[in-house]
Formats: sequence, structure tokens, C-alpha cells
Amino acid sequence: MPEAKIAPSILAGDFANLESECKRMMRCGSDWLHIDIMDGHFVPNLTIGAPVVTCIRGALPKGESFFDCHMMVSEPERWVDDFAKAGGDLYCFHYEATEDHESLIDKIHAAGMRAGCAIKPKTPASAVFDLVPKLDMVLVMTVEPGFGGQKFMKDCMPKVEELRSKFPDLDIEVDGGLSNDTIDFAADAGANVIVAGTGVFKAKDPQEAIAALRAAVNKRQLK
Ligand code: DX5
Ligand code: ZN
Repeated sequence: MPEAKIAPSILAGDFANLESECKRMMRCGSDWLHIDIMDGHFVPNLTIGAPVVTCIRGALPKGESFFDCHMMVSEPERWVDDFAKAGGDLYCFHYEATEDHESLIDKIHAAGMRAGCAIKPKTPASAVFDLVPKLDMVLVMTVEPGFGGQKFMKDCMPKVEELRSKFPDLDIEVDGGLSNDTIDFAADAGANVIVAGTGVFKAKDPQEAIAALRAAVNKRQLK
């Protein structure tokens, strides 16, 4: 199983102070920063677009921080070049948002980013099996995408188990409702990339929260 990566979701941060929030998370030991892009169409919420990512990238140089862009958008093909230019490192589109997955993955790679594919709770893991050889990551959503602060859906764990047993070296990310209370379910199922918004930003000690998430994933790896 690949190494643990902890990716705080800046959606739970203070948007009036994005630069300092991102830097605070990096100081607290995050591996990646998870950036939630919502278009008000694929999901019933609106967040930010490439111009804001460009600004954050201006404040946190490439190489010093890894931007995991979770694209909850229709027509994900449309924004690949903008996000590459904005400084995205990984472009994770939703399986449900496009028909031609392979061309999109090629486009993301050609733009110089890693490619991820996210599946909503009702999409089976088998949907992405054939795509995995081309993908750098699969994101198994553990809430319906659209909002932070929702309850972790434990019934998505069999999908993580299925993917982990078929693809031992794949980066498998989980997103939604992850915290100290739920991490063991995800880690035991085989997830190694952990997104946490509320669980980190609203923790009394975010550094400790990040360390605890990492420890849970590492403990599973020793089993
Ligand atoms: C939900 C987003 C998540 C969200 C996670 O649609 O994709 O990244 O911010 O937030 P928490 O950890 O609070 O569920
Ligand atoms: Zn997300």
C-alpha cells in the first residue's frame, strides 16, 4: 500500500484568509491541500475557480505544497488547462460527469498534472477498474459531494476494500466525514489518502489531528 497522505480540505478553512489557512495546514504537517471546486451544476453548491487557485499558488510555491483539486463540475474537460496554469498538481474529475474518461485522463496528463477519478457513493468501484492503469488516484466519496461537515458513510468501505485488493499500489483517497472517530474504518479498508475538512480545521489541535490520521493509516500498513 502506498504511503499515507493527509489532505486537509480548505473548504473548512476561513476563506477570508486563505493564504494563512493553507500555510497553517502545511505547518501542521499536511502532505497535500485538498481544494474543492464546485460549479453549482454537478453539485448544488458553488465554491471557487482557477483564479483563486492561481492566487493561492502565488502564495505557496510549487514543489512546497501539492494541490489536490477535486473537480465537482460538469464538463470537467473544460477546466483542465486553466487548472494546470493555475498550479494544480492533481486534477480529480468525477466519473459521473463525463463520457469519455480516457481522453480526459490523457488531456490531464498532457497538461502536466496527475489524474484522479472520483466516484459518488452510488457509483460502484467496478466503474473505474478499466481506467486504473491510466489513473494516478481513485477517490471514493464517503458523503454525497457538495458540502463539508456531513456524516461519514461507512457503507462505502467495501468499495475501498475491493479497489485495494485489486490494486495494492494505487493511491486511494477517501473524502467526507473523516475524523479521529471514523479514520479506522477507512484505514482498515485500505485508503491511504485522507481528506479531512471539519475533522482537521475544527479540531482543538489540527497538528495533532493530522498526526492521528496519519498514525491510523500507518498502523493498518503494518498489519
Ligand atoms: C464534499 C467535499 C469534501 C469536504 C470534506 O463535497 O468534497 O472535500 O470538504 O469536508 P468534511 O471533512 O468536513 O466532510
Ligand atoms: Zn473534496
